[in-house]
Amino acid sequence: MTNNNIYFVANWKMFGLKSSINKIDKVINLTKKNTFKKINIIYCPPTTILSIFANKLRNSKIKIGAQNIFYTENFGPHTGSVNAKMIKDSGASYVILGHSENRNEGETDLVINKKIKVALKEKIKVIFCFGETLRDRNNKKTSKVLKKQILNALKGINDIKNIIFAYEPVWSIGTGKVLKSENLFKDIEKIKGIIRTNFNIKEINILYGGSVNTKNIIDLKKVDNLSGFLIGGASQNQNKFIDIIKKTFN
Ligand code: PGA
Repeated sequence: MTNNNIYFVANWKMFGLKSSINKIDKVINLTKKNTFKKINIIYCPPTTILSIFANKLRNSKIKIGAQNIFYTENFGPHTGSVNAKMIKDSGASYVILGHSENRNEGETDLVINKKIKVALKEKIKVIFCFGETLRDRNNKKTSKVLKKQILNALKGINDIKNIIFAYEPVWSIGTGKVLKSENLFKDIEKIKGIIRTNFNIKEINILYGGSVNTKNIIDLKKVDNLSGFLIGGASQNQNKFIDIIKKTFN
């Protein structure tokens, strides 16, 4: 991979307190180096510390993303929820949507579709996650499932260029299991085929997510139809996160 416009998205999930802001200093320094000027780092901390991250990163190249939003655009009586306007106000310019951990809690394709629409309306870029379960894969239903997830979530959406796709096989998230680079390459080609056939888009950015770590990055970086990685567990440790970034280009 060359380091032109490659994305490294740090998905902190439900981890992190105000004091965690001190755990990104080395990453900020890394982005000041010429070699890494063209990479895109997006930190997605929990909602509670979005604005703290935004303040800290105000003068840096690192962008901020939220991990979810509510599916309607207006303010309203939705206890515990935040809308697209709120996360934008906190300093986020991206949002992760469709993550399997939320699908698992009952989030449907229709809800994801609504969320993507309200995010794009607020000019928030979407990191749209999709992926098959182990059962889908074993039953040879991967392509069918991915196609359904993609078409349902993007129904009626024209602004596809502001969507970054994130292929995250459910069986790979947090398990240490990853596809071999040659198989992942083939899957990414198939996904690009689905997107190209159904949407008018010139440049498709697809990230891979699922157990990316400092060891498997050596093989994963060979997948050169990818535009980067969505990293959960390993992104919470800045040394590991930096190691992954550096190894991607070495
Ligand atoms: P993981 O999570 O890297 O911890 O597997 C990735 C994700 O869920 O985005």
